[in-house]
Amino acid sequence: MTSTAATRRIDSEAVTSGPPNLAVQPLDGPLGCAITGLDLSRVVDDAAAARVRDAFIEHKLIVFPRQSLGEADLVRVSHLFGDPVVHHVGEYLDQDFPQIMRLSNNVVDGKPLGAPNNGIFWHSDQIFREQPMLATLLYGVQTPLTSGGDTLFSDMYAAFEALPEEMQAKLLPLQAVHSFVASYERNYVRARSLSAEDKALNPDVVHPVVRTHPQTGRKALFVDPDSVTRIMGVIPQESEDLLSFLFAHIADERFVYRHAWTQGDLAVWDNRCLMHCATSYDDSSEIRLMFRTQTQGDRPV
Ligand code: SIN
Repeated sequence: MTSTAATRRIDSEAVTSGPPNLAVQPLDGPLGCAITGLDLSRVVDDAAAARVRDAFIEHKLIVFPRQSLGEADLVRVSHLFGDPVVHHVGEYLDQDFPQIMRLSNNVVDGKPLGAPNNGIFWHSDQIFREQPMLATLLYGVQTPLTSGGDTLFSDMYAAFEALPEEMQAKLLPLQAVHSFVASYERNYVRARSLSAEDKALNPDVVHPVVRTHPQTGRKALFVDPDSVTRIMGVIPQESEDLLSFLFAHIADERFVYRHAWTQGDLAVWDNRCLMHCATSYDDSSEIRLMFRTQTQGDRPV
């Protein structure tokens, strides 16, 4: 997988409206912005909330650097982006705040503190649901100092718009099958195995290969290598060829921003027009602990 080595630029010029110190500055890459001048451990007022939501739609990814958030703060901030949804993998949920899932390589007294090696394939969160996630919030509680653990984000509007017209026209009517089971078995190798009942309760779903964002009206590629099993209405070889092409295309560095985490960063992204994936780090010498929440989306069309 290739990606840009774009870095964050968080020094920013003051903007002209909203709370006096709030500033929105594009990141040094093809997508995303940093928002500074907003302390998310305090209640965000209506004017600031409106600025944040506008930036979310315009930039698709927001990084709030150097925050100091407790669990209750993170849940409160999540509500700015919709209704939080409790993750289906119960092992890694916070006991007091089940809206928070922990991701970590750390093990204390033989008990994992969070899901290890989660999200290492490009994906859009819970695309295998009839109503996949709208926003995901990821907070860096403890982040690797020297060895990676970055998160990559790829712009699915740009990926669709970069395709030749004939390929766009070919993809527009197509639908793909997404499998909860395939995604679970890739990501949660150390969690409990799925029972026959789990599988029956989480059947495959079908989504358009290209979705239309409900707020911007723009078209975005919507297939991920984490959960798609096939494209419908074409022969198996054509489905395989198309998927291989699309999976390479969505990871093209032209569309990718790489976020190198600093402790206290909160990233919030729009799953309706971005794919993301985690990258490796030296988990034998460094600890990574992230708190993650997600909010309810609607049915893709
Ligand atoms: C995720 O895919 O939700 C997590 C990404 C990361 O840990 O970098």
